[in-house]
Amino acid sequence: MITLVKGFHDILPEESSRWSFVTESARWCLKKYGYREIITPIMEKTELFVRGIGQVTDIVEKEMYTFQDLGGESLSLRPEATAGILRSVVEHSLLRKEPVLKLFTIGPMFRRERPSKGRFRQFFQLNAEALGDDDPFIDAETIACACSILESIGAKGLLVEVNSVGCKTCRNVYRVELKKYLEKHLDGLCQDCQRRLNTNPLRSLDCKAHGCSEIVKSAPLIVDYLDEPCREHFSGVRRGLDLLNISYHLEPRMVRGLDYYSRTAFEIIDTDLGNTKAVGGGGRYDTLLAELGGPEVSGIGFAIGIERLLMGLRDEDERFARNVDIYVAALGEPCRETCHMLVDFLRKNGFTVETRYSSYSLKSHMKQADRVGAQKTIIVGSDELENQSVTVRDMSTRNQAIVPMDDILTFLRGDGD
Ligand code: HAM
Repeated sequence: MITLVKGFHDILPEESSRWSFVTESARWCLKKYGYREIITPIMEKTELFVRGIGQVTDIVEKEMYTFQDLGGESLSLRPEATAGILRSVVEHSLLRKEPVLKLFTIGPMFRRERPSKGRFRQFFQLNAEALGDDDPFIDAETIACACSILESIGAKGLLVEVNSVGCKTCRNVYRVELKKYLEKHLDGLCQDCQRRLNTNPLRSLDCKAHGCSEIVKSAPLIVDYLDEPCREHFSGVRRGLDLLNISYHLEPRMVRGLDYYSRTAFEIIDTDLGNTKAVGGGGRYDTLLAELGGPEVSGIGFAIGIERLLMGLRDEDERFARNVDIYVAALGEPCRETCHMLVDFLRKNGFTVETRYSSYSLKSHMKQADRVGAQKTIIVGSDELENQSVTVRDMSTRNQAIVPMDDILTFLRGDGD
């Protein structure tokens, strides 16, 4: 048996109704907020992620599936969607046609992390980006949109954490102070954080190593270094959230694991999921488009992990029950052709219909009808065939009715008794 690649997973038929419920609910919410779908490739030139996400980040340094193709080019499976979406926006000059552009995508991402509950090497994200508006209210709207997707799916126990990571100017001042502080605790830092101290000390703030997370508890906070415009922007975001009645928690140590953020950063935690924590996260980026060769236009976006969302849904939720209107049971070879046509006729008239062509025993047909969750079973045996009628059994009450073949649609569309 050839098995799955470690950290990858199948979405099995019993999960797929929950899966499509989640993606369809999300699509509906995103549409309400004005987002349109964009589908970009799952593989891009490695350079895009190095430039976009940042060379000195866990994702780029350790987690990308990178390889050289036969032409010698370095390619990577996308670890996230933002860089690819922005590459596409720049390449097709989409902002020229629409100065405010709202895009979303749903698809697989790849990170070679250590697999654990809710952490995969291939996982699906729903990712949304709003470009061309730097008013703080769009930040609040973006957070509201992420929350509304999660709420529409029935996620409970959500906690919104927000922070401002400032702009390049104030972050440079902060970086110096942070570095000074970390240098004093050099021995307690993990090897990665020691190595990154000169290039990217901010990464220590979200390092998962125990020693580092203890040290950063007393580190200087970026919010204390925000310049006036960034401070004003951040208070505008919070005002926007208050106006929309979104409760949030200020998390001054949150910087997120990608380097492109400026000003607003946020995460949404599903407290019901315990250690798995963030179900979604995002933030503002003011220079990313320009760094990828586009105009000097800012953006804000977020991504929600679909697997983590699904973990919060109950298996027995009846919204995900298999839904078959009718099962057709042919009791013997002579009824085979009639049933074959009947199944087709009912489907063409809008019913969800199942049958099993290779079975003629009533018992096995009824078992199969129960298995697929049919609401009614239409039974056709030799008597029915002779009388040009069918027997319709209601699967919940087990009541039966004999219905002339010609009246079947009227009967099924009526109250069904
Ligand atoms: P991120 O925080 O790296 O942000 O990922 C967003 C969400 O993807 C996480 O909150 C989590 O639910 C899910 N996720 C991440 N890694 C894994 C994994 N290994 N297994 C399962 N789920 C995972 C981004 O990716 C940014 N691109 C979001 C963004 C969009 N920022 C601005 N625009």
